[in-house]
Amino acid sequence: MHLVLIGIGTGDPEHMTVQGIRALNAADLVLVPRKGAGKDDLAGLRREICARYLENPDTRVVEFDLPVRDAASPYRAGVEDWHRAIAATYRDLLGRHAGAGSRVALLIWGDPSLYDSTLRILGHLRGMGVGFEYSVVPGITSLQALAAGHRVALNAIGGEIRITTGRRLREEGPPEGEATLLVVLDGDCAFQTLDPGSWEICWGAYLGMPEEMLIAGPLAEVGEKIVAARAAAQAARGWIMDTYLLRRR
Ligand SMILES: C[S@@+](CC[C@H](N)C(=O)[O-])C[C@H]1O[C@@H](n2cnc3c(N)ncnc32)[C@H](O)[C@@H]1O
Repeated sequence: MHLVLIGIGTGDPEHMTVQGIRALNAADLVLVPRKGAGKDDLAGLRREICARYLENPDTRVVEFDLPVRDAASPYRAGVEDWHRAIAATYRDLLGRHAGAGSRVALLIWGDPSLYDSTLRILGHLRGMGVGFEYSVVPGITSLQALAAGHRVALNAIGGEIRITTGRRLREEGPPEGEATLLVVLDGDCAFQTLDPGSWEICWGAYLGMPEEMLIAGPLAEVGEKIVAARAAAQAARGWIMDTYLLRRR
């Protein structure tokens, strides 16, 4: 059995690469989680990608429910248990729908290398005795979509970039001397904990989607505007995904 992890980009079906489309059509089975991160829109993108690009009549698409993380247990232990539960779901699905020689495609939001656990989950799957080969088709990440939307380079000349989470930025503060920070997984506008006079921000939400939002400028000038725009968009749609770049001034 061969599992191929296809990076599908961050919301625009046209983020799919030619390589990704080829890999999709070479698959015997495509596994589509019914809800990505609890949001119907995200499952919708995967369905749209299959509807647009899947031309192989022999490829079967199977939708399934992802186990939900137990928010009550401590963060790390909770995540480990959750990953094992997802691996068990894959094991059962593969046992039911995929033969020994099958090619199976998993459609990964953005790219599997960035804050995505599928590669780690495959380790659990192997630990459960499932035999398989695997490969990765890279996709456009939210950070690339952010940079493209704002038409900026991520790094200053010869500069470093730190990619971190909203939780870490809030709890640990910005790293000393680091010129550029990229922040994902921030449910709470952690940039508000920074000295607003010292940073520029490029913020983006729903990147690649029709409702894409982009706001940029000195944090002191646009910080509150981002907080308000984010809250309004979240209230209107029921969910939001955003990411941002911070650069010292
Ligand atoms: C679990 S991580 C997955 C990242 C993904 N693998 C990638 O390559 O971008 C989810 C986070 O990515 C960012 N993200 C993903 N898609 C986004 C989008 N369309 N617009 C803005 N941020 C996005 C958000 O910070 C979100 O909290």
